[in-house]
Amino acid sequence: IHNHFTESVQPLIELIDSLRSIGIDKHIDLPSIAVVGDQSSGKSSVLEALSGVALPRGSGIVTLCPLELKLRKLKNGKWTGTISYNGHKECFDDPLKVDKLVKEAQNKIAGNAFGISDELITLEILSPDVCDLTLIDLPGISCAPVHDQPEKVKNLILKYIAKSETIILVVVPCNVDVATTEALRIAHEVDPEGYRTLAILTKPDLTDRGDEIDVLNIVQGKVIPLSKGYVIVRCRDQSDINNKIPLSKAMEMEMQFFRNHNYFSSLLNDGKASIQCLAYHLTKELVNHIKKSLPYLIEQIHIKLLTVERELKNYDQGPPLEEEKMGPFLSGIIMEFSDQINELIRTGHSKDKN
Ligand code: GDP
Ligand code: NA
Ligand code: MG
Repeated sequence: IHNHFTESVQPLIELIDSLRSIGIDKHIDLPSIAVVGDQSSGKSSVLEALSGVALPRGSGIVTLCPLELKLRKLKNGKWTGTISYNGHKECFDDPLKVDKLVKEAQNKIAGNAFGISDELITLEILSPDVCDLTLIDLPGISCAPVHDQPEKVKNLILKYIAKSETIILVVVPCNVDVATTEALRIAHEVDPEGYRTLAILTKPDLTDRGDEIDVLNIVQGKVIPLSKGYVIVRCRDQSDINNKIPLSKAMEMEMQFFRNHNYFSSLLNDGKASIQCLAYHLTKELVNHIKKSLPYLIEQIHIKLLTVERELKNYDQGPPLEEEKMGPFLSGIIMEFSDQINELIRTGHSKDKN
């Protein structure tokens, strides 16, 4: 997560980092974060703002197959990206190439004919400027160009969000009827209690005039209550993208937007608006997950310790540590061995030591 919002989440991020530095990630899988929503609802934009990695997105751009974005924080060192799919693997060191390489990969896998594939593209990014997160960008629920594949898309999405280790971000733009969105319904299907579902309202600037109060009520959980609640975010629109507005600038613009908004400004103080706030919520989720996993980890360590102790008991005393005792120790073993050989010759049987 980018430098900009590290201030408020710094203590939590440092906690995760220090746990990682003692190797906890080998024992606890940090949850991944997947996005569900309609085509063009702003899924890729949200992931991009969270990760600081420019992903292919835009009105005409369709996510054709799942993209797993593994962000791994480096203590020091420089930005390195590795994209892998379908036996292909490529390393690169220019962040600006992400967009092109992902598009290339999508076209190779899903073809240029708007096919949907459940083959995974994995993009691993090592950098001092990212936070340890795994994000999954999924195809939109209703991909307009795809006529015969709604079931296929739905099954693909379900495959990812059904995992209990996945935090589900349901992405819904402010200019649609939130209550009837398929995305919320699908998330509810796999997570009825809403323990791991967070709803993100996007495109607040496109809220229809007269609908502001409705949107406000939704974000405040007064319409469809969700246990993890709602966050409203403003990402880059198409002209911001065309004008190459950097992500950091976009985040300043977002704050500006909410501060000056007649209806939504109160949401900033409630901790329900901005990408920064979303990042904070997600980091808290990760910390909670670690807390929940610790008892299990301790149990595993105890089991391992008992097994090792039991195995250790099977061995006799080892060689002495003092050099001068080594001679007598070895001759003892040789004598014992020669006794056993003699016994074997005499009786035709070897005698068990005990
Ligand atoms: P996806 O298909 O769900 O991944 O959606 P994208 O992230 O590709 O976004 C679709 C379009 O919506 C792009 O042109 C974005 O620039 C635009 N967009 C995303 N967020 C916002 C927003 O907050 N406001 C406005 N006006 N446009 C946005
Ligand atoms: Na898009
Ligand atoms: Mg997308």
